Formats: sequence, structure tokens, C-alpha cells
Amino acid sequence: MASSTSSFPSASRLALAALPTALEPAARLGAAIGAPNLLTKRDDLAGPVYGGNKVRKLEYLLGDAIARGCDAVVTFGAAGSNHALATAVYAKQVGLDCYAVLTDQIPTPWVANTLRWHCLLGTRIVPTTGFVESQAEAARLRAMHPTGPDKLYEIPWGGSSPLGSLGFVDAGAELAAQLAARRIGGPVRIYLPCGTMGSVAGLLVGLRMARVPATVVSVKVVPQHVVDAAAVLRLAGDICELLRAGTAPSAEDLAAHLEFRGEFAGEGYAIPTPECVEAVALARDLEGLKLDTTYSGKALACLVADARSGRLTGQVPVFWQTWNSRPYPAGLPDADISALPEAFLKFFPP
Ligand SMILES: Cc1ncc(COP(=O)(O)O)c(C=O)c1O
Repeated sequence: MASSTSSFPSASRLALAALPTALEPAARLGAAIGAPNLLTKRDDLAGPVYGGNKVRKLEYLLGDAIARGCDAVVTFGAAGSNHALATAVYAKQVGLDCYAVLTDQIPTPWVANTLRWHCLLGTRIVPTTGFVESQAEAARLRAMHPTGPDKLYEIPWGGSSPLGSLGFVDAGAELAAQLAARRIGGPVRIYLPCGTMGSVAGLLVGLRMARVPATVVSVKVVPQHVVDAAAVLRLAGDICELLRAGTAPSAEDLAAHLEFRGEFAGEGYAIPTPECVEAVALARDLEGLKLDTTYSGKALACLVADARSGRLTGQVPVFWQTWNSRPYPAGLPDADISALPEAFLKFFPP
């Protein structure tokens, strides 16, 4: 199951994803917003069963868990976390048990089905109230783990450790090859949502290692004040340190190619904005793309605003579609939700 093209050959990376994901023109959407060169990067199809941006990180993280002899993983997120679900899907595929320590969130149209899918997979869901409490919960689970604390592998929020982020360093090399094949020499602007920062930071490093003249536009979707340009660059620096490659970019080079955008987050995590709702509808009606209003819709809203303001003139914009568009499993409506924590039953309408 070892994968062939890896930014970090000594890592125990698994081949879980369906790569490379397509880089496609989005001509109708581009024409409608004044960005005729618009391309989409179809990471929504990045996994055969469950797509989205998390599969790339999980190739490294689950590979590391197996290499360390673990038999289970624990990860974290909000109740409707795409990351926690992706972890559960692929952990099961490689024979690892999965604990998901989940916080409350505002309801979205997808939370109930995400939890139903967890129930089908047998994820052990543990409710928690916040970041600090979630770490204490993980420590408790480790201490109680039947085969011993060392057998429970911890995957951080969003999978955004330097190791997990290597999945997006590889994605940068993948995009560089696709741009070269299309004879696009720049300038390129790549828009993607920024939550726990690993996708943006890894992509930035990967593109700079490939010397692509691209700006990574990081669209913040979370309220935390700790998520900002400095934090993305710190993580990018940690990724370079892990790589220890002679070709690793300098801090100045990384900073010059990052644009951090905070103005599309709206009132908070998972709370839709009017711009985001419009962007989701445009993508659906003109390109048949499935976006969500927590992550991908906010990133596209930023791109649409930049196109309309003339900021993309002479540029090749790339919209990185990070949200899974693979269908739900057939048995989903029959999932037995009785083992869910009581606090999460509110997501299921009577
Ligand atoms: C659909 C989607 N897009 C983007 C992101 C953000 O990626 P990152 O956490 O690497 O910043 C997430 C994170 O959960 C996600 O689920």
C-alpha cells in the first residue's frame, strides 16, 4: 500500500487517495464572474469512498499510526467535522478503530448525515466542550486503552500536524505538474479555505519547492484569533524543518506567496454569509459542483469578490474544491443512532 510520489520518502505513507485529482476549466462560472481562465482542482473526488482535502493528510497520518504498531486512532472536531468522518472512513479501511472527540456546533444541513455515517462505521464518539477539554479526553482514552496507551495514535484537529500537512506539500507538486502540462507559467492565484491551516501551509511549501509563481489565498473560516498569516507561516516553517530538504523555501519566500483573508468568515464557524450562499448556488447552477457553506462556499465567495473587483485580471485563478462530493453510503438512512451521545441527538429532526 506504499505510495510512490512522496515529498518525504522516509515517511510511512499509505496510498488511500485517488490522485492526481483533476484540474479542470470552470468556463461557465468563470464567464459569469469575470474570470475567464478559472480552473477548479477537484479534491472533492480525492478519495474513492470519501473525498475532500483530508484524505491527503490521512495517507501520512494513518501510515504513521500503522508503522508505530497502533491499533486505534483518536481525533477531534466539531460534531459535523469532515475531518473526523474522513479519519473514521479510512481508519476502518486500514483496520484501525477510531475514536472521535467532538464538540457541539451550530446545526448545518450535513451534521446529521455525518453522524449517521459515523454510526455505520462504528466510530466511538465522545462528546467534549472545547479544545482544552478534548485534550484531557484524549489523555483519558489513552490511559484506558485496552491494549495500552501506546497503541492509541493521536491525530490532531484537522490532521494539521507537520506530518499530515505533507499531503498538501505533495498536492503542490501535483498542481505544479498540471499547470506545466497546460503551459501555464503564472501568475496563478489559488483559493482554499483555512481552518486548522495544514492544507494552506502544506500547499504553500509544495508550490514554493516547485518554484511555481503562485499566490496561495488562504480564506479563514474559523473564529479563532490564533488562525492568522503568522500561524500559517509558522506551520509552513515546521513543515520545512520536517522535510529538511535542500530545496525548502525560506521564510521570506513563503511569506511573499501567502495572502491571508479574514473578511469572508462572517459571524463564525459554519454560519453562512450571503456571499457564501450565492457562491454555493453559482457553483451548483453553472458547474454542477457541490459546495458547503462552512468551508468551500466561503473560499469561493472570496474568489468571486476578487473577480468582480477586477483583481484577477491577467491571472489564472484556481478554486481548490476541498469538500467531499462522493455520495453517502446506501445504508445511511437506516443507521442506528441510539449509541450517539445524547447531546448530539438534537441534530436529528423528530
Ligand atoms: C471541506 C473542508 N475544507 C477545508 C478545510 C480546512 O482545511 P485545514 O483544516 O487544513 O485548514 C476543512 C477542514 O476541516 C474541510 O473540512
